[in-house]
Amino acid sequence: MPPPDSQTIQPADALVGAVALPADKSIAHRSALFSAIADGTSRIVGFPDAADPQSTLSCVRALGIRVEKDDDALVVHGEGLHGLRAPSSALDCGNSGTTMRLLSGILAGQSFSSSLIGDASLSGRPMGRIMNPLREMGADISGNDGHAPLSIRAISGLLTPIAYRLPIASAQVKSCVLLAGLYADGETSVIEHKPSRDHTERMLGLSRIRMGDEAIISVTGGEAPAARMWSIPGDFSAAAFLLVAASILDGSLIRMPRVGLNPSRTGLLDVLRAMGADIRIENERDVNGEPIGDLFVKSAPLSGIRVDGPVIPNLIDEIPILAVAGVFADGITEIRGAAELRHKESDRIAAVVSGLRAMGADVEEFDDGMAITGGTGLSGAEIATHHDHRIAMAFAVAGLAAKGATLIRDASIANVSFPGFYDTLGALR
Ligand code: S3P
Repeated sequence: MPPPDSQTIQPADALVGAVALPADKSIAHRSALFSAIADGTSRIVGFPDAADPQSTLSCVRALGIRVEKDDDALVVHGEGLHGLRAPSSALDCGNSGTTMRLLSGILAGQSFSSSLIGDASLSGRPMGRIMNPLREMGADISGNDGHAPLSIRAISGLLTPIAYRLPIASAQVKSCVLLAGLYADGETSVIEHKPSRDHTERMLGLSRIRMGDEAIISVTGGEAPAARMWSIPGDFSAAAFLLVAASILDGSLIRMPRVGLNPSRTGLLDVLRAMGADIRIENERDVNGEPIGDLFVKSAPLSGIRVDGPVIPNLIDEIPILAVAGVFADGITEIRGAAELRHKESDRIAAVVSGLRAMGADVEEFDDGMAITGGTGLSGAEIATHHDHRIAMAFAVAGLAAKGATLIRDASIANVSFPGFYDTLGALR
């Protein structure tokens, strides 16, 4: 009998078929939060069932916002910047760092107090990175030694606008400061050196000015987001698992319609293509200011590559699955400049290195990345997911390409971003 909440992954020959991906998690969080503080009613088409965006939605409801279902859409009755109500208990962000960090920016400007909690993984992630700029803006926020639970006390007036130079490339920190800026008395700016995903800027229509090798994004206090219709594209970060699976399993061909192709998210596409992957994009178009298209991927021989520098923030969530691709590439795949990976849902450098080694790969670990020598193949093993959805899914794909069975423990954690992931793999076999 397999242990409870595990998945046994048997090797697969090829994956063939079409996949409707879950809707983009980053855009979903933002659509719910921005709609809640908009003046008027918004419709969100295709809001995902995944656990992380659902955490944001339940927080929004706990803040007094009415949300109804209408066919395939959510109707969110926005109450304006100052229309949220004090929650009756702590806001539960579950496993979702985006929920906790973005929501803190909004809550920092409220005239009521609130607290935010999360699961064990989220409670271990650094929150000083948002507490510092929020305090500079005059917010009264405290945590447990820089971690959740967070407690945010009511303020009587407005926050103080700041110009904040991001010490790390982080869309969550950037978005937190910009959202707090909506509650500040004047213009708040964030200066970023290495561009991270820019959904907040696009969705709020914020100005972005390039100054040498930096960009300045600004928001004007007091201007509520517009109530509107959002249509959420498929999640490129979910597509990533299938792009790699199809690339490494001979004879595969997968089609994924309507995938978000925002360049600040698709670093993996460029890297896989440079490794030799056969990926085609058709029907490119724009929805809500976000580029989308249909993806086609066929198996192809891959070569190792060095990945470092400004592309890292644009593929940060895809590094676990990129490492799996590296095992099946000819030569060495080296990933550097990715120390942020140690602060995700798990320490993803340690989790990937130990999982790949357990499966027989040749991997060297660095503080800021890893190097994988391709060509060893993989053997099935028992994999600990460390309560991290992307580790579970990356190793399920590794298992498809391994000899013998792979056991993924704590497998349902994949529901954080990709409900039905294992069934999707099964249907493609
Ligand atoms: C996200 C930003 C990234 C990413 C996370 C989602 C977002 O985190 O890893 O999965 O939606 O803003 P950082 O901004 O902290 O790098």
